[in-house]
Amino acid sequence: MIELKGVSRRFGEVLAVNAISLVVETGEVCVLVGSSGCGKSTTLRMINRLLPSTAGEILVDGKNVCDTDLQTLRLNMGYVIQGTGLFPHWTVARNIGLVPGLLKWPEARIRERVDELLQLLGLDQEGFVDKYPHQLSGGQAQRVGVARALAADPNILLMDEPFGALDAITRETLQNEMLRIKQQLGKTTVFVTHDIDEALRLADRIAVMDQGRLIQYDAPEAILRRPASLFVETLVGSQDRGLKMTGLQRVGDAMQRHLHPRPRDLDKPGVREHETLRQALSLMLWQGTESLPVMDEDGAEIGIISRAQIWAGGH
Ligand SMILES: Nc1ncnc2c1ncn2[C@@H]1O[C@H](COP(=O)(O)OP(=O)(O)O)[C@@H](O)[C@H]1O
Ligand SMILES: [Mg+2]
Repeated sequence: MIELKGVSRRFGEVLAVNAISLVVETGEVCVLVGSSGCGKSTTLRMINRLLPSTAGEILVDGKNVCDTDLQTLRLNMGYVIQGTGLFPHWTVARNIGLVPGLLKWPEARIRERVDELLQLLGLDQEGFVDKYPHQLSGGQAQRVGVARALAADPNILLMDEPFGALDAITRETLQNEMLRIKQQLGKTTVFVTHDIDEALRLADRIAVMDQGRLIQYDAPEAILRRPASLFVETLVGSQDRGLKMTGLQRVGDAMQRHLHPRPRDLDKPGVREHETLRQALSLMLWQGTESLPVMDEDGAEIGIISRAQIWAGGH
């Protein structure tokens, strides 16, 4: 668990972070969102003590980070930044093995761990470990950055706009990877972004910041339904809210389930139960239909999602 208690940071005249208090529960993903310059990165850097705070305290599992040995603290916190910070003259394998190397793990164990992480991040192609950062695409390099942060199995992940420089499609792929890794590893994560859609997608709880202050700290659905101020309402886009809400809900939770699965009619388009109501709605609009069959992973039809159910899901 990470707890910020009245944490502030001043740079000369500028109060970059102004008395922020929040708790990130173990295993949760907290996303800090707000415009450029509102104090997100500064907040993150105070957690791993890249920056000292000028007031307040930060506790990790009840212990003040200032009372924790710096190396121990950092080893327990994976840190991922935009542009990855990979060493250009080191291979992928050596970059990922950086922290285990510092911890003096035996060579064989490091190699095993590197292989495991490459698999986790879908980078386990032949010869990939021997490449250098300049030989990687932006998405691959960012994945290596994530692998490196996870290498020594830290309890906490800190991510500062890790996907900010990627094109929209690569970004979406990496967001999906994040969701999958979250399910698999359940790391306590603080993730910084200026993109509200990325925040809604990844967060268990969203911290909306403005000019150094914490404006609202709530679950994505609560941020959409009950924005605490006009600022938050504008951020989530008051007109787009209904659609964004359907993006948070799963087809499987709203559909009418058949008593028994049926073989699928291959001529009819359908959705899968883990897809969002937004995806179902879009397909219905495109197909001009009132309802869609829902398939499980094996392609059997397990239910029906109708327009009425999507409507009901929004309330
Ligand atoms: N090292 C620094 N020296 C002086 N001012 C800084 C420094 N780092 C950040 N700031 C200022 O603090 C404020 C918050 O910055 P930052 O936390 O980087 O915002 P964000 O990550 O939300 O874009 C900005 O006004 C920025 O100019
Ligand atoms: Mg920043």
